Amino acid sequence: MKKRILTGDRPTGKLHLGHYVGSLVNRVKLQDEYECFFIIADLHTLTTQVRRDEIAGIPQNIRDLVLDYISVGIDPQKATIYLQSRIPEVTELHLLFGMLVTVPRLQRVPTLKEILRDLKIETPSYGLLGYPILQAADILMVRAHLVPVGKDQESHIELTREVARRFNNLYGKVFPEPEALIGDVPTLVGTDGQAKMSKSLGNCIFLSDGPDTVRTKVMGMYTDPTRIHPTDPGHVEGNPVFIYHDAFNRNREEVEDLKERYRKGRVGDVEVKEKLARAINHFLDPIRERRNRLANEPGLVEDIIHEGSEKARAEARETLALAKEAMGLVYFVR
Ligand code: TRP
Repeated sequence: MKKRILTGDRPTGKLHLGHYVGSLVNRVKLQDEYECFFIIADLHTLTTQVRRDEIAGIPQNIRDLVLDYISVGIDPQKATIYLQSRIPEVTELHLLFGMLVTVPRLQRVPTLKEILRDLKIETPSYGLLGYPILQAADILMVRAHLVPVGKDQESHIELTREVARRFNNLYGKVFPEPEALIGDVPTLVGTDGQAKMSKSLGNCIFLSDGPDTVRTKVMGMYTDPTRIHPTDPGHVEGNPVFIYHDAFNRNREEVEDLKERYRKGRVGDVEVKEKLARAINHFLDPIRERRNRLANEPGLVEDIIHEGSEKARAEARETLALAKEAMGLVYFVR
């Protein structure tokens, strides 16, 4: 039997090149070898955004996420793409798991401290504190074996393993202890040279950006600050423009030639960037094409979400029934 994978994203906006190299390519590969579930974790967005106008943005974000998934090559025939809020069983499991984790344990989760700091929240809500428990419910609900995530999510998988272990010790073995599959690709730098491409920093190239937008963004990229004139020898290592060339330009000869001339001060930034813009657009063309085709098919995104969620829900019902059975929590049922 194929091993089972679960991973996913909160619907907070369009995906960018950083997501592509960091996780999407990997998912496209994994869908052939494993039984994959990709969750769109809309309930998790409520942990930090509860206003009506914030919630109003969720449906469009879900649409964009599904289009991003499919356009990069995730195949809904192979992988199950589903919406968290369409699986009410997950909230029940979340409640049960909540009894197995102490408050200080949750307070020690490093991502919590980061969110409190970044969003300037003084004290977390009960829901925000319980974020990793909800994530554990997502993962254990489908009894996943592997969870491919970024390094930042490692602590949540560790907590998930603890929940599974504690549950199994108390009630008998219902859950596998899932393992995190941490990728070894370094985080993609932003167009501004900051360590990370991130929506909140405004330094992203989105998978859905048009050719002109890509060109403008690339022409404005941060390069080697020590290089004033095109005749100055430049630095290739750690230079965002060359990091992108390495990641997205399939013409290796062109890249090597540009690097060599850059080091010797025989090429201007404009040429390097022109060629990069062309390479990224070349890379994005088939993705855009697929996206446009899908976006224009009425009901397609809805169908994908609906079918995926039905499938995930069947798993969820089964798992919840097993869990309650194991706990001795099935009574007064007619
Ligand atoms: N917390 C994850 C993130 O922010 C999203 C997520 C929710 C998730 N449930 C999950 C990831 C289950 C993996 C498995 O990226």
